[in-house]
Amino acid sequence: MLTDSFGRTIRYLRVSVTDRCNLFCRYCRLSTEEILPNNKEILDFDELVRLLRIFLELGIERIRLTGGEPLLRRNLVGLVRTVSRLPGLQELTLTTNALLLERYAAALQAAGLRRVNISLDSLDPDIFDTITRREGAAPTPGTGLPAVLAGIAAAIRVGLHPVKVNMVVMRGINDHEIPAMVLFAQQQGVLLRFIETMPIGEAGVGMTDHFMPAEEILARIHHHFGSQLLPATADKDAGPARYFSRAGTEAAIGVISARSQHFCSSCNRMRLTAKGNLVYCLGRQDRMDLKSLLRTGASDAELKTAIRAAVDLKPERHAFAMQEGATPHSAIHAAMSALGG
Ligand code: 5AD
Repeated sequence: MLTDSFGRTIRYLRVSVTDRCNLFCRYCRLSTEEILPNNKEILDFDELVRLLRIFLELGIERIRLTGGEPLLRRNLVGLVRTVSRLPGLQELTLTTNALLLERYAAALQAAGLRRVNISLDSLDPDIFDTITRREGAAPTPGTGLPAVLAGIAAAIRVGLHPVKVNMVVMRGINDHEIPAMVLFAQQQGVLLRFIETMPIGEAGVGMTDHFMPAEEILARIHHHFGSQLLPATADKDAGPARYFSRAGTEAAIGVISARSQHFCSSCNRMRLTAKGNLVYCLGRQDRMDLKSLLRTGASDAELKTAIRAAVDLKPERHAFAMQEGATPHSAIHAAMSALGG
């Protein structure tokens, strides 16, 4: 078992399989941020599978594949097939922007993927483009809202259940779509989570002016749906989300308030970047370079010692508050686009 110095047991690993993404979401990735594929820097298939096997031997139970956009990773289906069969794994899931999901959903499900979380910040094609596209760039075919909606439909069709949709709420940009999103989720039968923007990386810090606290998101929902709202515990793996539902419907709605009410005391996760760094906390820079160990011939036992040492270094809580005043030239370089959310 992996227990940290604050008594938290780490059972959940988020694994970024690529830094590349086919979108430039404003809160995640700067439009000037080019990610040149350098495949040597990224953990290869065998390195990744070896590390994940070791993490599972140490007590990790759930793995979520993220990116960048994980569906851009070559042979992701093969990776899912191999990882899903590793001993000790209870659940393998994926976070995706769903642009390519229509093409891959059935194969992923057959390969052993259990569920997907899909990022969708707007149901309006123009607002979707404003949030996700590089300014001034010609739209790339297949990178718009229709592809995402087709991806969501495919996930539902092949039974990647429950499909969760995440909406990052930005005041003045998409906050007026909160009620429409609730109705959409209910109609599709997907679980919806509203997420506060987090000041992570330069792009995330740049969204501070659009920050909308969870309590205000909740108030908006109450305003529209009022007495129909009931508290719900729809999700035994709720993690950081607080859930409620509308009377007479099964569709649960959640709010994730990383900034206004941190949930660090129940944090059960760590993150592995595509380049092989183990990140202890989403809101901090500290990390352990596992790739160098892998590539200098470390044994399984040595890797386990390093991972245990990393778990010991997991901080008590994130430091978002300190980052809010950060300037683009401060020490905050950890781009969300490399951390996978
Ligand atoms: N604040 C909040 N959520 C973010 N995500 C990425 N960057 C941020 C941010 N700065 C979310 C995406 C996606 C998940 C992978 O992380 O919307 O749902």
